[in-house]
Amino acid sequence: MSVELTPAGPRLSHSRPRRPDTPGAVLVEPALVGICRSDLKEIGGRRPGPSQFGHELVGVVARSSTSRLPVGARVCLDPNVPLSRGTGFARWMWAGGEAGALERALPLAPAGLGERRLVFAEPLACAAHCLTMTRRHLGASDLRGIRMCVLGAGMAGVLIARLAETAGARVLLANRGPGRLDFLAARDALPGGGGALLTEAPAGAHDVVVVATSYVTPELLEHALGLVRRGGLAMLYGGTAAGDRLPGLDCDLDRVRRAELVQAASWRSTPVLVGGSYGTTTGDFAYALRALSDSPDGLGVERLITAEVSLPELPATLRRLAEERLFGKVLMRPR
Ligand SMILES: NC(=O)c1ccc[n+]([C@@H]2O[C@H](COP(=O)([O-])OP(=O)(O)OC[C@H]3O[C@@H](n4cnc5c(N)ncnc54)[C@H](OP(=O)(O)O)[C@@H]3O)[C@@H](O)[C@H]2O)c1
Repeated sequence: MSVELTPAGPRLSHSRPRRPDTPGAVLVEPALVGICRSDLKEIGGRRPGPSQFGHELVGVVARSSTSRLPVGARVCLDPNVPLSRGTGFARWMWAGGEAGALERALPLAPAGLGERRLVFAEPLACAAHCLTMTRRHLGASDLRGIRMCVLGAGMAGVLIARLAETAGARVLLANRGPGRLDFLAARDALPGGGGALLTEAPAGAHDVVVVATSYVTPELLEHALGLVRRGGLAMLYGGTAAGDRLPGLDCDLDRVRRAELVQAASWRSTPVLVGGSYGTTTGDFAYALRALSDSPDGLGVERLITAEVSLPELPATLRRLAEERLFGKVLMRPR
């Protein structure tokens, strides 16, 4: 059983997943799968590129062609490694490819961590990548003492903020309205630097401003550039589309984000850097898994979980969430 994305939306399918026609293949039994904003964008037809429907998972290897992924091993999924695979919203998920790709795509989960924590490995790896690229764009060896403002208190923003704190940054999490900040405060999930409305964040006071909202709109980028100090870095992390530009800033925003460039620019006669972060690397999974293990409460990620649904309940849940603002993390437990 699986939930497939059809032209008519997400639908329950009872067909058996087929082993891919590749020399190597691993059968994974998903134990817990997170619903990501990008799943909802795919349902709405607003996410270009290869499908990653149902990719935030932790599961157990049930059959394997590679000794490094033995039967019984617990794995997560890096959806950015090209593989021939089905959706993780399923009782069983086949993944096919050469041995090296399978090993990179299915990072082994450390022992002793619960599934409700491990299911955050992939979104946290994206956050880890953003911090790695931030450090690189700044030419800094670490983020200790850096003043960072994260715009957007959704799942991406809160994970970037919490992880940046563990790297020594002083972090303010800003959102356009109070709803998400109140939600996070009630769950003790705000960074130590606290939360603020976008309009209340201090201007010119940050070394780095990460735009982690659904889309990097011109208004938001303009706001971000006003919050960053002279010579500081505006990081593009939320969605961009080909041709996106901010009048007055000489920068191809989509290219900077997707190619993970850093560009020196001038904004209202003040020098700034504009940089991008896109995707993950194998090292980011190691970083994320270490953070989930080392932090006593796993960065508080489990407190962000709002519901668990079953596989048959998933199509209706996805349709509902695609129409709503999604607060926190909803999980699907296939069994
Ligand atoms: N670069 C990468 O590699 C990478 C990796 C993962 C995710 N992402 C991207 O990160 C983005 C955020 O993902 P998410 O999971 O955090 O989404 P989410 O949980 O739905 O949160 C979206 C956030 O954006 C804010 N927002 C939306 N439209 C806005 C606007 N017009 N002005 C101001 N704020 C606005 C929302 O604020 P409200 O509270 O007002 O709704 C909320 O804080 C997505 O575009 C996702 O694709 C990028």
